[in-house]
Amino acid sequence: MADDIVKDDGIDEINDAEEEEIFDLVDSDDGSDTKVIENEKGSIEKNPENEASPPDQIKEPKPEIKEADSDIQNEKESQFMKTGIAGFDSLIIQGIPKGSQILISGGPGTMKTTFCMNVLVNAAKRGLTALYLSFEEKEENLIRNTKPFGWNAEELIADGKLILRNLDPFKMSRSVETLLAQARGELLIEVNEARNLIPENITPDVVVIDSLSAISAGFFGKEEGYRAYMSQIFDTFRNLGMTSFMITEIEHSTTKYSKSGVEEFLADAVFALYNMRQGSQRLNAIEIIKLRGSEHQKKIVPFKALANQGIVVYPTEEIFMDK
Ligand SMILES: Nc1ncnc2c1ncn2[C@@H]1O[C@H](COP(=O)(O)OP(=O)(O)OP(=O)(O)O)[C@@H](O)[C@H]1O
Ligand SMILES: [Mg+2]
Repeated sequence: MADDIVKDDGIDEINDAEEEEIFDLVDSDDGSDTKVIENEKGSIEKNPENEASPPDQIKEPKPEIKEADSDIQNEKESQFMKTGIAGFDSLIIQGIPKGSQILISGGPGTMKTTFCMNVLVNAAKRGLTALYLSFEEKEENLIRNTKPFGWNAEELIADGKLILRNLDPFKMSRSVETLLAQARGELLIEVNEARNLIPENITPDVVVIDSLSAISAGFFGKEEGYRAYMSQIFDTFRNLGMTSFMITEIEHSTTKYSKSGVEEFLADAVFALYNMRQGSQRLNAIEIIKLRGSEHQKKIVPFKALANQGIVVYPTEEIFMDK
């Protein structure tokens, strides 16, 4: 499916002839010709009217039912974790194996932060401990951006279920020499910079890093140090058994899902977020590129951010019909 999608050329105004080149025609299941939406991994065009209601042909999935105590117990004992995002979990057959390291990869403004915060809020509401490590936004901004969705983040924070931490990527990179010496096996004692990301008094079930790209910026000119740090983060988080969502911002028309390319091989899963163009409109979409240890749907499906709810994925929609 992804191969059928033509990448954005960055041109905002397109005439009909250009549009013909941009969209590929493919056969849908019912045999009718449908247009594949263009994939936009680069610049974003906001379209508030479009965000107000989904296109006619997208059926609203039912909101997830709030879990009973027995379900919480079942989840704690289960080997799999749910995101709790309406419509998304049905894309994954067994579930996300607990302890997975998931790359959330997308262009600017593709709702990476909102998606991950929604996963954490859902986990915290189900009684899990959720940690958001932001190298991009201050805690107050993160809280403010949750308000339109009515998630009561402040209550979850007060209960100690949701923990937000704002960190400086440049401080991380100062330990680069230590990291490199360790990677070369020159240190007698083990120094674990990645372990310091997790407050000592908590053992989170689920963690978000927002973003690996911001960390990478802190390591500018010290690429070897960045790779050593990445490797330490992945190792440490895996050993701690936390399910981790690691955001990476990818550039326009790239074939990579991460900054250095190494992260997508270290990760157990890659979820790609897109901003797709249909005619003059842009729509959000998500795709599970890989997920070790569970079967999953292999298609690009639309999603929206709805007021007083959050992210809603439309799992039965594969592509949009162009009107
Ligand atoms: N309440 C809302 N309802 C619908 N859309 C929203 C809402 N709040 C924000 N958005 C849209 O989502 C966009 C980006 O959301 P978000 O910050 O999650 O994306 P991101 O991929 O993390 O962005 P960045 O690349 O800046 O980190 C906003 O620019 C806005 O267009
Ligand atoms: Mg963000």
